[in-house]
Amino acid sequence: MLSFSFLPSFLLGPCLALAQSATSTPASQASSATSFAPQFTVPSEADEGATLLPNINDEDAPNAQDRCPGYTASDVKTSATGLTAQLSLAGPACNVYGTDIENLVLTVEYQTDSRLHVNIQPAEITPQNESWYILSTDYVPAGSQEDGQMTTSDLTFSWDHSEESGFGFNVTRNSTGDVLFSTTGTKLVYENQFIEIVTQQDEGYNLYGLGEVIHGLRLGNNLTRTLYAADVGDPIDENLYGSHPFYLQTKYFKRGDDNTITLVTDEVDSDEVSGNYTSTTHGVYFRSAHAMEVLLRSNNVTWRTLGGSIDLYFFSGPTQPQVTQQYQQVIGLPALQSYWGFGFHQCRWGYQNWSVTEDVVDTYRKFGIPLETIWNDIDYMNQYRDFENDQVRFGYDEGADFLNRLHDNGMHYIPIVDSAIYAPNPENASDAYPTFDNGRDSNSLLLNPDGSIYYGAVWPGYTVFADFLENSTHTWWKNEIVAYYQKIPVDGIWIDMSEVSSFCVGSCGTGNLTLNPVHPPFKLPGEPGNVLYEYPEGFNLTNATEAAAASSSSQSQADASSTTASSSAAATSSSSTSYLRTTPTPGVRNVNHPPYVINHVQGDLAVHAVSPNATHVNGILEYDIHNLYGHQILQSTYAALAAAMPDKRPFVIGRSTFPGSGTVAGHWGGDNASKFYYMYFSIPQALSFSLFGIPLVGVDTCGFNGQSSEELCNRWMQLSAFFPFYRNHNTLSANSQEAYVWASVIDAAKTAMDVRFQLLPYLYTLFYNAHTNGETVMRALAWEFPHDPSLAAADRQFFLGPSILVTPVLTQGATSVDGVFPGLFEGMEVYYDWYNKSAIAAPATKNTTIDAPLGHIPVYIRGGAILATQGMALTTRDARQGAWSVIVAPDVDGQAVGNLYLDDGESVAPNATKSVTLTSFGSGLLSVTVDGAYDGLDLPLANVTFLGVREKPADLAVKINGVVVGESVFDEKSGTLSVTGLEGALGGKVWGGSWNLSL
Ligand code: NOJ
Repeated sequence: MLSFSFLPSFLLGPCLALAQSATSTPASQASSATSFAPQFTVPSEADEGATLLPNINDEDAPNAQDRCPGYTASDVKTSATGLTAQLSLAGPACNVYGTDIENLVLTVEYQTDSRLHVNIQPAEITPQNESWYILSTDYVPAGSQEDGQMTTSDLTFSWDHSEESGFGFNVTRNSTGDVLFSTTGTKLVYENQFIEIVTQQDEGYNLYGLGEVIHGLRLGNNLTRTLYAADVGDPIDENLYGSHPFYLQTKYFKRGDDNTITLVTDEVDSDEVSGNYTSTTHGVYFRSAHAMEVLLRSNNVTWRTLGGSIDLYFFSGPTQPQVTQQYQQVIGLPALQSYWGFGFHQCRWGYQNWSVTEDVVDTYRKFGIPLETIWNDIDYMNQYRDFENDQVRFGYDEGADFLNRLHDNGMHYIPIVDSAIYAPNPENASDAYPTFDNGRDSNSLLLNPDGSIYYGAVWPGYTVFADFLENSTHTWWKNEIVAYYQKIPVDGIWIDMSEVSSFCVGSCGTGNLTLNPVHPPFKLPGEPGNVLYEYPEGFNLTNATEAAAASSSSQSQADASSTTASSSAAATSSSSTSYLRTTPTPGVRNVNHPPYVINHVQGDLAVHAVSPNATHVNGILEYDIHNLYGHQILQSTYAALAAAMPDKRPFVIGRSTFPGSGTVAGHWGGDNASKFYYMYFSIPQALSFSLFGIPLVGVDTCGFNGQSSEELCNRWMQLSAFFPFYRNHNTLSANSQEAYVWASVIDAAKTAMDVRFQLLPYLYTLFYNAHTNGETVMRALAWEFPHDPSLAAADRQFFLGPSILVTPVLTQGATSVDGVFPGLFEGMEVYYDWYNKSAIAAPATKNTTIDAPLGHIPVYIRGGAILATQGMALTTRDARQGAWSVIVAPDVDGQAVGNLYLDDGESVAPNATKSVTLTSFGSGLLSVTVDGAYDGLDLPLANVTFLGVREKPADLAVKINGVVVGESVFDEKSGTLSVTGLEGALGGKVWGGSWNLSL
């Protein structure tokens, strides 16, 4: 806990920082003219926790499997839909990382044909017993038993008992006899602060999910995944903002010549793949909000949680799309998104006033680059206070005028809202902050165990935190957002710092509020002492002379300081570390320093986050629901926006997420860096969020931390154009990286945006299908081609829906990219180049080198698709006024199909919708059926293009509904047949009714 003597702030020499004053520059002046006032800085030690050694790195740590007795099952009762049993400790308690629970209850339910639920929890749970917390269905939905007999389930639960390890269970897939999950032969460990189940795995198993993590798509067999929401800038293989205790597993099988089926345990090279592979996929969800570790090892996967229950859901699949649908039946289907949300978003930390912000908008217009939404980071706030604008730089009247102009132009505005709420200085009446008062007066704040208010520290200084477990909090949060909306009619909200982040350990603000506002315990980007001198990645290659000069000058600086550096290194290496180890006390939990130390990126659970002993309503401890904070603030914000704009679909983007967050929000990938490898990681990160039921996902395009470069931004603006959420965002004080900063990026962005705009009706339909039945939007190659084991780890390419294949350049300096066209080699698929519309010739090897000079992102249409497109405009509103085109891309059998969902793009419950089905059974043939009354997009048809046409048709005359409407043009080189000039056909209303086109 923070303690220091109270000195007047002007005496606090080393702790003084320069803070932006509330009454700084008039907005009309240059933003650099900010004035500074001295301010107390929270000491950096305030964010230091105990020195802990993660259990997985601790050679002296006891192994629960060696020490604990396991359980025996008794009183087993089976029914048509499951079974129940008592589990009792099989020997003396081991109390290895807590207190063993003597008696447990096992409940098994066959909930649906494809879902099995296994729950193990203490036999006696009293609300007052603080030894364990069972996650309430009030906060996280649980799958329930569908009535009827589950005789058709493809999953079977069985259990057995071994002398050595006691009770264990298996989940088996009936149709193949394959054991999907097996704890047999290992001990169940169930303590008040530690639960462990060990499951067997076959060698070379393929697991995906278990996020949020910066890692390749396939998790590999030697990784410890920690799930504990953390505010940290995207380190690789560590716990991050979101917690998704869900994995998808794919097992590949090979059929031998004698028809025997064997499990594939080795990597399969793409050229080895033939038609004799199959796969099955299942999913496992561990419904828990506790700190958790999942240890992936060569032959087993171990789950460890720091409390709660074992609440497992098994989804039988047997394919990824089915598992994803089955999972979302439990956690909830993704929200219906507004059409405009798929436009391009520009953001940065550092747009210092309205005029700077508006300049960005104007510059996008000037260069003719589409911009849908402009965002403000914390710069807009009055001293970083939510729901209050700095009245000099971001005045309300000026803002309302700006937003009017934006809205008139079909654009949108989104501000950040931080999770922490400023606690005003009680000795300074002018520091009053009604948002705080309202939260405190409605008892909506997190408390200390003694009932006092918990005060942490974030951007504005010492802060409080909403308790979203408390009903009143949602009313408070809604009132604040609705009131703010009256001043600034925002179009959505960006929720940040929701892990929930706090820059100090414990209630560090207690007793210190009179110092408020205070500066965070570290320097903000760009503050003196924290200036970014870094060069963009690849600068040494592209600007060799300048780089050599820069490096020799930094070398001489390094030489000058080398004496000091080496003596301090020696001092460090001679010191030995002593770690805090907690010995369990029977029946008493140590929530701040649990006996089992998870491998948490911040070390101590309380570092850079609200501490585990912060107390929610009914005494529920943060320890027990930590991973839920980010999810609940998203839910509350969604409800508040729905109240502010009752007819509009709320648009919410959040940092910390949990199963079910997709029902209310999308996600951006947090604080990545301007590096090529982060551009690559954006693909597996986004694909993982497809599995988590949060399809609206994207990352900080061009990179957040560090300096971006023309080449990186060029590539990244193109790549992100194929992600559902498309936003460029940058950190404070880094060089600008808007799409117009470099000439080549302007062109590259426009090129990719042109494709994106044409695909928006397709993307919107994919999202509608995700919302209505859980279909996957962004897809891994392996999910589309489940019979090809060589794609098991493919994550440098992806599909958008079933029909668009994207093969981006992800490395610096490259002018070509290696990729595969799944199924093309075997002649089972056909792909068409997006740009010249010609079919790709089957390559000699499966891995193909594709030309991709800077400014070109390879994109392909997979045969079998019909895409209804609209052209690019500066906003999606204007694009939706444009004429339609249809691209018919047949499969190897000459057939194609497409669907289109249409509505007004923003109403929560549109009063009319339309569903269009397009089919084609041969070149020059197209049939369209229309269902529904929505007519807002019944605009002219401009053209229809048939791809993959091998021969010139005998008759080029085009008929719609049997009446000749014009001539088609055949292009032999590309194999396309184009029908143009159709604007006058169909009464100028392409979706006005069903029709067919023929030659
Ligand atoms: C952290 C967020 O991840 C980042 O996107 C944002 O710019 C900063 N907070 C400042 O608000």
